Amino acid sequence: MHTLSSLFHNCPSYTVYAMASSSNYFSSFSRASLPLFFFFFLLLLHSDASAKLSTDFYAQSCPQVFDTVKSVVKSAINQEKRIGASLLRLLFHDCFVLGCDASVLLDDTPTLLGEKTAKPNNNSLRGFEVVDRIKTAVEKLNGPSWEVKLGRRDSRKASFNKANTDIPPPTSSLANLTAAYAKKGLSVGDLVALSGAHTIGKARCISFRDHIYNDTDINGSFAKLRQANCPCTSGSGDNNLAPLDLQTPTVFDNDYFNNLISFKGLLHSDQELYNTSGSSSAALVKSYSRSTAAFFDGFVAAMIKMSDIRPLTGKRGEIRKNCRKVN
Ligand code: HEM
Ligand SMILES: *[C@@H]1O[C@H](CO)[C@@H](O)[C@H](O)[C@H]1NC(C)=O
Ligand SMILES: *[C@@H]1O[C@H](CO)[C@@H](O)[C@H](O)[C@H]1NC(C)=O
Ligand SMILES: *[C@@H]1O[C@H](CO)[C@@H](O)[C@H](O)[C@H]1NC(C)=O
Ligand SMILES: *[C@@H]1O[C@H](CO)[C@@H](O)[C@H](O)[C@H]1NC(C)=O
Ligand SMILES: *[C@@H]1O[C@H](CO)[C@@H](O)[C@H](O)[C@H]1NC(C)=O
Repeated sequence: MHTLSSLFHNCPSYTVYAMASSSNYFSSFSRASLPLFFFFFLLLLHSDASAKLSTDFYAQSCPQVFDTVKSVVKSAINQEKRIGASLLRLLFHDCFVLGCDASVLLDDTPTLLGEKTAKPNNNSLRGFEVVDRIKTAVEKLNGPSWEVKLGRRDSRKASFNKANTDIPPPTSSLANLTAAYAKKGLSVGDLVALSGAHTIGKARCISFRDHIYNDTDINGSFAKLRQANCPCTSGSGDNNLAPLDLQTPTVFDNDYFNNLISFKGLLHSDQELYNTSGSSSAALVKSYSRSTAAFFDGFVAAMIKMSDIRPLTGKRGEIRKNCRKVN
């Protein structure tokens, strides 16, 4: 038996930030998103097949956890809108490296080389302080006790190398992306749906310079617009930011797909999904551009699938006291 506070003291880091990114997901939707948020969140908890925690259980015994996570994320988003996007991306970068086990949160130590400075993450991943704040807030909760059987647990290791090899770079071709997702048990459909996350958030010039100067599958006036704040010389203005979604950069909608159809994707890898009209990814891009509902359905299903990559359950892993450190 654990007390409520000890459960949350023991709340796996993974859960803390998976909830953070799902409640971000909620906050980023333009409207009518509450049911969708809970649908996603509850399924996320459910997706751990061996856990005995039920959705009812969480809803009845511990409604505070939802509100606590939501309120910390909300206040973080009020301070900076982009943080929602950053939290969502954290989940992706965790799940693709050793599975969804919070390995991405570990700081480097003399004996552990973490993932934070791997190429896709260094000077790019953000939101770690918000995860820390959520963990602190959640640990302050008091309440009744109940038995906690199994749940998602935190890894004791990290992989700098796999963070470099398994998270696809923005220079990837469609074939590269398809292979990277297949390696994680994800389909082209999942790839297209999950890429829709680029409807929010920002990228650095270094991530899209080649695309706006050298690719031909880009609208000329859009390329010019982005070139204005991203010099062609490598090393100059590398960290200048541009929104991933030209039209509604802070709203979670399907405009990402409309951008691709008009060749206004910001990353080379984005535009690859709609490069050759005959590809199966292009057909999906079209259908998501026509229906927000279809995109949301596809996104939720693919997020759940991604969150299911190699969860640590039972006695594997541990429950970290501090999100950033192995116990
Ligand atoms: C398909 C393969 C993907 C590639 C190649 C890719 C690449 C990138 C790159 C290069 C950036 C900009 C980073 C920077 O310049 O600092 C970025 C940002 C972002 N990515 Fe992806 N990404 C992919 C898939 C995903 C997925 C699956 C998600 C989440 C479900 C996601 C969510 C985000 C978000 C929200 C941002 C903005 C983060 C912020 O503003 O802090 N991406 N991505
Ligand atoms: C990460 O970026 C910093 C600059 O902020 C750089 O000094 C460091 O070498 C980079 N680390 C790796 C592993 O590339
Ligand atoms: C992408 O695919 C090409 C051609 O198969 C290959 O040479 C390259 O190494 C791949 N790049 C990545 C990042 O996987
Ligand atoms: C564009 O391509 C040329 C030729 O491959 C290369 O020399 C140049 O560095 C590229 N420019 C940018 C901004 O990527
Ligand atoms: C994507 O478009 C570019 C430029 O039009 C082209 O050179 C490249 O081969 C295309 N990639 C694929 C996979 O078709
Ligand atoms: C590129 O985008 C501009 C601005 O939206 C538009 O006026 C133009 O027609 C587009 N160019 C092409 C070739 O579609």
